Amino acid sequence: MHAHEAGWAHAEGARGPSWLQQLTDINDLVPLLWSSTARKNDEGALEVGGVDLRDLVAEHGSPAYVLDEADFRARARAFAEAFGDYDVFYAGKAFLCTTVARWVAEEGLCLDVCSEGELTVALRAGFDPARIGHHGNNKTLAELRRSVVAGVGRIVVDSFAEIDRLVAVTAQTGRSTRVMVRVTAGVEAHTHEYIATAHEDQKFGFSITSGAALAAVRKVQETPGLELLGLHSHIGSQIFDTSGFEVAARRVLALHAQVSTELGVTLPELDLGGGFGIAYTTQDDPADPAQLATELTKIVEHECRALDVPVPKLSIEPGRAIVGPSMCTVYEVGTVKEVGLDAGAARTYVSVDGGMSDNIRTALYDADYSCTIASRRSEAPAVLGRVVGKHCEAGDIVVKDEFVPGDLSPGDLLAVPATGAYCRSMASNYNHALRPPVIAVRDGVPQVVVRRETEEDLLRTDVGA
Ligand code: LLP
Repeated sequence: MHAHEAGWAHAEGARGPSWLQQLTDINDLVPLLWSSTARKNDEGALEVGGVDLRDLVAEHGSPAYVLDEADFRARARAFAEAFGDYDVFYAGKAFLCTTVARWVAEEGLCLDVCSEGELTVALRAGFDPARIGHHGNNKTLAELRRSVVAGVGRIVVDSFAEIDRLVAVTAQTGRSTRVMVRVTAGVEAHTHEYIATAHEDQKFGFSITSGAALAAVRKVQETPGLELLGLHSHIGSQIFDTSGFEVAARRVLALHAQVSTELGVTLPELDLGGGFGIAYTTQDDPADPAQLATELTKIVEHECRALDVPVPKLSIEPGRAIVGPSMCTVYEVGTVKEVGLDAGAARTYVSVDGGMSDNIRTALYDADYSCTIASRRSEAPAVLGRVVGKHCEAGDIVVKDEFVPGDLSPGDLLAVPATGAYCRSMASNYNHALRPPVIAVRDGVPQVVVRRETEEDLLRTDVGA
């Protein structure tokens, strides 16, 4: 292993990265980053859903994920309304619990699950199985059987082995099932490599270019017990630029039309996947659902006209864009440490009582986040800060770059916005951390929807003693 002397070479200077903005008043919120009911009260404390986060932490401890129910419902509804003719599937992988599954149903959306665990939660919540779509690139025979027996509305197949398993399941159970074929459009989505899913060299879907996708369609179409609904394309996640969707739609619809001419089958449906980006910091400028609906519909209609095929029934699968901005995480500050950079500059390391176990996204995708002091007003000058966790590695960073109050001290609360998607759902027990609760807030009332883990939870699976 090569080692080099770490130090100034790692620093970006006192101003942080060039995109980082310093607010005129460090106590202010940047509304785009926060859920709709978030505000600072007269004492400078952060309130969400009418709940003062100081009270929430006093009652429920920290760290905690705070879920703004009104905001979640409004975003879900905005997608359902903007995409009126589409089926909107909320992607449960972003965050799912029984309460949220009920909200999703109440707001009229369908649900995308990608594992047996997510299916279990959905069914426990009483979610109508006919409105569930089941994803995954390696669904087992048992998973498929469970899904088919439960009456799941559509299964998105991802491999020939899976089609074979599905054939076995439908034969064994005597039940038929509705199927979509996940295809790879060969698009390089402009997002982090780990969350881009439509280029050729990755694990998902049947390649259009290689002919695998058409072969899969043919196989599903020829198999009794499998009802072919259409093609499914998901190009990646945290995408802002609709040009990726446009290229994907063009390629997927070309296949859709080819199926019509070569197999004589008009596929009734088409799913365009999810992936719509949200604002984590002031760098991000997301489109709203109405804009997305207009653009996607225009793209599909244009292609269908050019190919002379009827516009299929469309569906989308947003996860992040619904739940992401609806949640923030509140932490308590434990230590504050100033570390010298070059030319006399410094960075203030703020250690909080969580970290990469409750938000792995910074470490995994180099994601940027923001934060604000949540327990009081500060009149101190801002300093360049880095919010880090309490885990045993230097990469345990929550917020890489943000200006924080210069008088931040142990006991202060910090809140990080836009942590609703892929934070609790990817949380771990690293260092035997207890995963934080999810507390829904609405009209001044906090409601625990996922409780904090306890040491008994940790020890429950440890059968050695
Ligand atoms: N549909 C399919 C087939 C998907 O694979 C995904 C996400 C979605 C819909 C929802 O995508 P969204 O609208 O939430 O972007 N853990 C990563 C994201 C992984 C996304 C996986 N698939 C992250 O934290 O950024």
